[in-house]
Amino acid sequence: MKKNLTAALMVWLSLMPLLGNEPDSAYLFAYATTKNAGHNGLHYAWSTNGQDWQSIGPEYRWMGCDYGAWGSQKRMLTPYLYLDQEGAWHSVWSVNEQDPVIAHTTSKDLIYWKVQRYPEVASGQCLLPTISRSGNTYTLSWLTEGQAWYTSTSDFKAYTPAKAAGAAQRADARQTVTIRGEAQTGTVHKVAWTTISNLLTSWQATSFKSQLHAERITDDATRFAQLKPLEVTVTVDTNRGKAISDQLMGIFFEDISYAADGGLYAELVQNRGFEYTPADHRGWNSQTAWTLSKTSGSFTIDTVKPIHINNKHYAVLEATSTGVGLVNDGFDGIALEQGESYRFSLFARAAKGYKGKLKVSLLDEQGTVVAQAVTKNLNDAWKQQTLTLKASKTLTKGHLEVALEKPGTVHLDMVSLFPVNTFKGRRNGLRADLAQVIADLHPRFVRFPGGCVAHGNGLHNMYRWKNTIGPLEARVPQPNIWNYHQTAGLGYFEYFQFCEDIGAEPLPVVPAGVPCQNSSHGGAGQQGGIPLCEMDDYIQEVLDLIEWANGDVKTTWGRKRAEAGHPNPFNLKYLGVGNEDLISDVFEERFTMIFKAVKEKYPKIVVVGTAGPFNEGSDYTEGWRIGTELGVPMLDEHYYQSPGWFMNNQDFYDRYDRNKSKVYLGEYAAHIPGRRNTIETALAEAIYLTALERNADIVQFSSYAPLLAKEGHTNWNPDLIYFNNTEIKPTVGYYVQQLFGQHAGDRYYPSLLTLSNPDEAVRKRVGASVVTDSRSGDVIVKLVNILPVSTKTTVNLTGLNVPEGDASVSVLQGRPDDRNAKPSTSTLRVGNSFPVELPAYSLTVIRIKKD
Ligand code: AHR
Repeated sequence: MKKNLTAALMVWLSLMPLLGNEPDSAYLFAYATTKNAGHNGLHYAWSTNGQDWQSIGPEYRWMGCDYGAWGSQKRMLTPYLYLDQEGAWHSVWSVNEQDPVIAHTTSKDLIYWKVQRYPEVASGQCLLPTISRSGNTYTLSWLTEGQAWYTSTSDFKAYTPAKAAGAAQRADARQTVTIRGEAQTGTVHKVAWTTISNLLTSWQATSFKSQLHAERITDDATRFAQLKPLEVTVTVDTNRGKAISDQLMGIFFEDISYAADGGLYAELVQNRGFEYTPADHRGWNSQTAWTLSKTSGSFTIDTVKPIHINNKHYAVLEATSTGVGLVNDGFDGIALEQGESYRFSLFARAAKGYKGKLKVSLLDEQGTVVAQAVTKNLNDAWKQQTLTLKASKTLTKGHLEVALEKPGTVHLDMVSLFPVNTFKGRRNGLRADLAQVIADLHPRFVRFPGGCVAHGNGLHNMYRWKNTIGPLEARVPQPNIWNYHQTAGLGYFEYFQFCEDIGAEPLPVVPAGVPCQNSSHGGAGQQGGIPLCEMDDYIQEVLDLIEWANGDVKTTWGRKRAEAGHPNPFNLKYLGVGNEDLISDVFEERFTMIFKAVKEKYPKIVVVGTAGPFNEGSDYTEGWRIGTELGVPMLDEHYYQSPGWFMNNQDFYDRYDRNKSKVYLGEYAAHIPGRRNTIETALAEAIYLTALERNADIVQFSSYAPLLAKEGHTNWNPDLIYFNNTEIKPTVGYYVQQLFGQHAGDRYYPSLLTLSNPDEAVRKRVGASVVTDSRSGDVIVKLVNILPVSTKTTVNLTGLNVPEGDASVSVLQGRPDDRNAKPSTSTLRVGNSFPVELPAYSLTVIRIKKD
């Protein structure tokens, strides 16, 4: 431990500004290497003589490019730095080898770079871009196919490119220097030494933080090998209790990793509408998941006379012998339970004069029938038929067959099979076991439909709520950004109903008029937005959602809700606008329009804006700027971080201004290499949750993300709940969420933690939170011990008038890499002051009943 302290001290000393013999000025070199396909962003080096260069953080990314689809497609080629007359640094660069755009951004200090713009200034690649400024006019120049071009602009919106007289006239001041033995090309600038020393200090602070954030709980047994038994006293301060949000614990639901289709949505038939396409997933088409049961027939797809224009494809099944059918594989098979009933339905139409019925069977893997029924006679118009089938056997990988009774041709569509026993018995409902395990979290709100699904992969793929309501055959299916198909069967009505069924507030998130910032469609990704001339319609769509949820049955949209079976309003209070968007000019313009329109028409609706995908950087800073300027009531923050980050940032929200927007921590999770959900990640989240409770005067909502993942189809890890067709596998992180959800309060009492070992590394591994719940009157104490030793703890609740008696205690504990631990519950003798032993690596929740 002493060693740790010394290391930390050394780092702090090195952060002190140099005193003594510093130069007044030096040279700064700005460049990007070609490593990692140009993905590594902007680098700096410095020199006192312009010849011998020192890099500031080897391959350290001072600024990355945001242009383009996910991760490695965001590239920075040949950056060019320029300092204008007003002291602003500009950087321009090429984004790849083909797009006709120049990327541009500015900075005051070379450390914080503002939002990027991508002016489309040419056709063909913009090579070696440069920028200069005169008054308020900027001149951009570049090369395309050997020709030099330039254009001037004052707002980076309008351009008229012109050919420069000759390539030689271009002012390309790039130079090549040698850094660590490698030639690098970039721009050289003479700057005051303070500029260099600020960069060095910033880099050292970043390195120091990275060391802290890399701390692993799995190393703690070694790190704390000498640790003596620890004693902790938790003393509550009852004079400083404060009201906190009683909605802190909620869920983030997104159709990722088969969370909805193939998951929570209880439909057992895959590709029921024959609407799969290669755009959903490479190799998929209308026939995916379906096969012909016999060769004496044919299975084709037609679109000539569909049931509904939104559902164009249907199956044409032709039989030349009896018993030819279409067999559906389900999602990894169809799981059935002996004795359970299943509701089958389809739209069918007789073709070419077919007179007869359809035989519907549930089959085991060998093709043995476990349930069977026959439809009514078909006629030559589309007609929906329904049947109930009772399974005579439990199966994990069953199939569904729909067969012609005799030779002939039929058209089939919307072939569907649901368990009758859905969650709360709802038609078109949810898988009961999965919905129940979610309900057991006691979520106070449900955010839906995402995540990235909400704003989609390109403008055309945004989640438009109106496409997801009404009769199933009229809903608009579309590719899911996570590389599969969205039926929209679990649509807005079902989401709202689920919220009502579990007593949670609905928190729908609509796109802010821009698609996902990592979109692979539309070239520049989120730099595209709904054209301004279409924004009025889009805003109306958002307003209609509020009318649909809350309007009287006499209103246009309230009536539609009533027709769907819910005459009473859903009482929507919150509306998310945007999901971790790139906070660009395009975003700001559209978000502002939507926000103002909602505020004007529905002033009581709490709009939740967005502050980007990280806890720092330009999206975060600019998201907060916009939120503050507009007075947005709440902002959605996202960050996935290491356990070390969570342990070392417990004061993250203690720093927040109490008078600005409230916070929704909409996506967070502790990530370790291998992305597993372990006691290590769960306890890092637990200790952070004690800090969230402390700050729940401004942190109104929080939700771990993502919630669900189907085994074999995970787009993302870790998740809170894994499942397959028959099993539900809550993670250790799930139990943390559950303990906090089931034991939430609405009043927080600060407590003083006194440790027998005052070492900072020890202190930050022990957390406590004391809340009371006004509904039950109960006092709840949450204690986290991330140390490898148990601690003798005294809890002093004097002032809360705790009666002597037994309290219930839930303890989640395990080794840091444990993935299977579950909480155990027992009782504990409590009073105003009582001892409790906190096991190594544990979360303890003590609930003291009022009486
Ligand atoms: O939670 C998974 C994804 O993470 C979400 O879709 C997105 O918002 C974030 O990047």
